[in-house]
Amino acid sequence: MTAEAGAPALVRAAAPEVDLFAEEFAADPFPVFARLRDTAPVHHDPATGLWLVSRDEDVRRVLLDTVTYRNDNTLRSVVPLRLPALRIMDRVGFKTLPPALFNNSGDSHPALRAIVLRLLSAQQVRLATPRIERITAEELDVMAADLRTTGRHDLARGAARTVPVRVMLDLLGLTGLARVDVHTVADWTDAFITLFWGRTEKDRQRELAHQVAAFYTWLCELAEIRDAPEDSLLAALARQRTPDGGPLSREVAVAVCSNLLVAGHVTTTQMITTAAHRALESRVHWPELAGDPTAAGRWLEEILRREPSLTAWRRVTSRETRLGGIDLPAGAELLLMLSSAGNDPEAHPAPERLCPMRDAGHRHLGFGLGRHRCPGAELARVEGRVFLSACADRFPGLRPASPEPPPFLRLVSFRAPARLDVADPHPHREGHHETR
Ligand code: HEM
Repeated sequence: MTAEAGAPALVRAAAPEVDLFAEEFAADPFPVFARLRDTAPVHHDPATGLWLVSRDEDVRRVLLDTVTYRNDNTLRSVVPLRLPALRIMDRVGFKTLPPALFNNSGDSHPALRAIVLRLLSAQQVRLATPRIERITAEELDVMAADLRTTGRHDLARGAARTVPVRVMLDLLGLTGLARVDVHTVADWTDAFITLFWGRTEKDRQRELAHQVAAFYTWLCELAEIRDAPEDSLLAALARQRTPDGGPLSREVAVAVCSNLLVAGHVTTTQMITTAAHRALESRVHWPELAGDPTAAGRWLEEILRREPSLTAWRRVTSRETRLGGIDLPAGAELLLMLSSAGNDPEAHPAPERLCPMRDAGHRHLGFGLGRHRCPGAELARVEGRVFLSACADRFPGLRPASPEPPPFLRLVSFRAPARLDVADPHPHREGHHETR
């Protein structure tokens, strides 16, 4: 039976129209998620060729079955890139990233994942926490100065972005080696996700491709460094041996670094931005977070359930299989809608309510599940807790700068406010916290 023939007629008749790049979908995807779950839980989207998997139960099944559902397709551009953009990246030798972590269902995955798990272990994160607190305090100083001088601050491109980039460079032992500023790294990684997970016009693609090419060139230079500190990512990659005893290829080292830099900052920035946006919007929750990392942690879990930053992720079937009542051929490309799963009433009663006391035992899929579950989850949680509790403590009167809802990113796998302008009508109240 073909995949299409496998879809029951009634289900197909009621299937909603979905435009994964639409402004309305980015701003409010929840009605579409509900219709998909109710009428077409495994739905073929002709625009992208992806099968949209929207029920919690099905998403879990896929994540746990790494034989039938491989991750080889996760880093392919969602929309085919045009020749001029491809040529720009080709010129610096960037064709594709070889299997590393996100796109690796093969035998080399466990050893590479073990390096990352060591670097990001709970103990390493605990040791790094004072540094995360210091970086956060310094970036909140910058935010305070911005609020004083311009009357507003864009959290999405300001403090919520610079903190995760600095923390990532610090944890990977790259701070002294990076030789580029934090905003450049952030711009490169933003360009990377926009090019590969967005739908962009030719000229914009070219612009983004130049940034991605610069990012790749910088990563290649990093991978050549031989005197990195003993406990850094670069030293661990240099020590790593392949099964035949040889060193890792430069391409694989570059792929691991890029996986970590992109995944490590983009998703954390977006989680903090969404969490701040919803807490400020409600007015009730912002003061509750002030100086209370535990309350901030509970708020973050709800955000990770309802509006996770990695909103959907891909898999590809290695053989014919059946999912959610639909027969899928081998090679079917799936989009696992983690955000829809987090709003599935079968798994989370009254999902539309953000309840920080909801005791789901972290049952949401915001960090994935199984073999590829996020190794940076603990780090992201600590960064989010430190940031939100410190920011709400320091700026108790912070408000959205405009009554209009912020614009959201229009990308297939990432979701958060693209801009989040905030203002502080009572700036004098935060003065005593300043450290410089
Ligand atoms: C709020 C922040 C974050 C979110 C929402 C998030 C989400 C996820 C999810 C859903 C996966 C599973 C992907 C899959 O099943 O294929 C994943 C994997 C991964 N994440 Fe995160 N992540 C976050 C932060 C981080 C951080 C801070 C790092 C690194 C420092 C990181 C590094 C990775 C890596 C390397 C993988 C691939 C693991 C593998 O395939 O074995 N993430 N992340």
